Amino acid sequence: MIGANGHGRWHRRVIGPLHDAGRLRLVALVDPRPIEEEPAAPVPAGTRIFTDHRAMLAEVAPEVVVICTPPHTHLPIARDAVTAGADLLLEKPPVLTSGEHEELAGALATTGRVAQVGFQALGSAALTALTDAATTGRLGTVTGIATVAAWQRPDAYYARAPWAGRRLLDGRPVLDGALANPLAHAVMQCLAVAEAVTGQPVEPATVEVERYRVRPIEVDDTAVLRLRQVVGPPIVAAVTLAGEDFIAGEVIVTGTGGRAVLEYPTDRLWLPGEAGPQVVPGRQGLLENLLAHRADRRVPLIAPLARTAAFTAVLTAVQAAPEPTLLGGDLVEAVGEGTQRVLRIRGVNAVLRRAAERGELPSESGVAWAVAPWRVTTPE
Ligand SMILES: NC(=O)c1ccc[n+]([C@@H]2O[C@H](COP(=O)([O-])OP(=O)(O)OC[C@H]3O[C@@H](n4cnc5c(N)ncnc54)[C@H](O)[C@@H]3O)[C@@H](O)[C@H]2O)c1
Repeated sequence: MIGANGHGRWHRRVIGPLHDAGRLRLVALVDPRPIEEEPAAPVPAGTRIFTDHRAMLAEVAPEVVVICTPPHTHLPIARDAVTAGADLLLEKPPVLTSGEHEELAGALATTGRVAQVGFQALGSAALTALTDAATTGRLGTVTGIATVAAWQRPDAYYARAPWAGRRLLDGRPVLDGALANPLAHAVMQCLAVAEAVTGQPVEPATVEVERYRVRPIEVDDTAVLRLRQVVGPPIVAAVTLAGEDFIAGEVIVTGTGGRAVLEYPTDRLWLPGEAGPQVVPGRQGLLENLLAHRADRRVPLIAPLARTAAFTAVLTAVQAAPEPTLLGGDLVEAVGEGTQRVLRIRGVNAVLRRAAERGELPSESGVAWAVAPWRVTTPE
């Protein structure tokens, strides 16, 4: 496992029980920083510790590598790992441009290895129940797919790592915006629904995005994006890390015959005709699925790299957008103290909900602080 602290500790908690059960053997952890203790998943005796992934690949020759390092390091580390003969569980965002996607896909094809991408919500039974409803006509003809999420991130979040809030680092794209990173799952869930509805990979025709920020960062903390597909309904993602009341992340699928809402972080699904949301339990783990796929190639991967092509196409479009508009003054209020201070945009939740419900960008619905969107026609 490369990148053992930070979110890597979550992976160590997944790996621990699989190691204990003999399903895999954790052979090495790699991190330039000292390995933090994870009480729920103590490092097994005999696990080797490295500070450099190339040394680990050369000495340990692992069969599977989990990569949980900052996004701008993914491509070079992934290339090294597949060249050394490993299959990958690669954290999202897998890579940051369509060019990088092609490069990694080429490396997989050449080496015969596979990459599962860390979009864990794709393994959710609730998502399958939603796509089943959409494809069996329970919603009529699907006319729109949208997501809305309102989170808060304190000052400490942006201070935790050199890449936080950056567009570029060490000459490589990072693009640590709300859409690309914390709320990437919201975007990916919409793309997965779209793929199910049309029965084909999502092919963007246009991407329009309005990006805003409340801090001196280089990327968005608030964004509304609309993707029109070559075939299929439009997709709108309306998200913020400067929200008011918490909206965990809803995927809203609208059809001529009804509407379904999936709260993807909790797997609560509300289908037409039901009195309220119901938890649909069951998530297939990405690492377990990767092991099953390695044992029997007929078991499909849940999140193979190819399935993330449209997600990365969206990032590529956002990458080219101008700097997000800085919001401030009376519009933004600070709450809390010290490193836990958060900033909230007054009225933002209503703006995002309207965007998701109507498929309108804020600038199209008369929001005073909204600016004209960045528009990309693909392929450009
Ligand atoms: N799937 C999810 O829900 C989810 C949640 C959080 C983060 N992530 C993703 O996980 C990845 C890591 O995020 P994070 O917030 O933990 O980042 P982080 O900056 O905290 O880095 C994680 C670890 O990687 C180490 N690292 C950095 N460069 C390295 C290198 N070259 N070799 C080995 N280790 C290296 C760091 O020292 C750190 O311990 C990102 O891609 C992020 O988007 C995914």
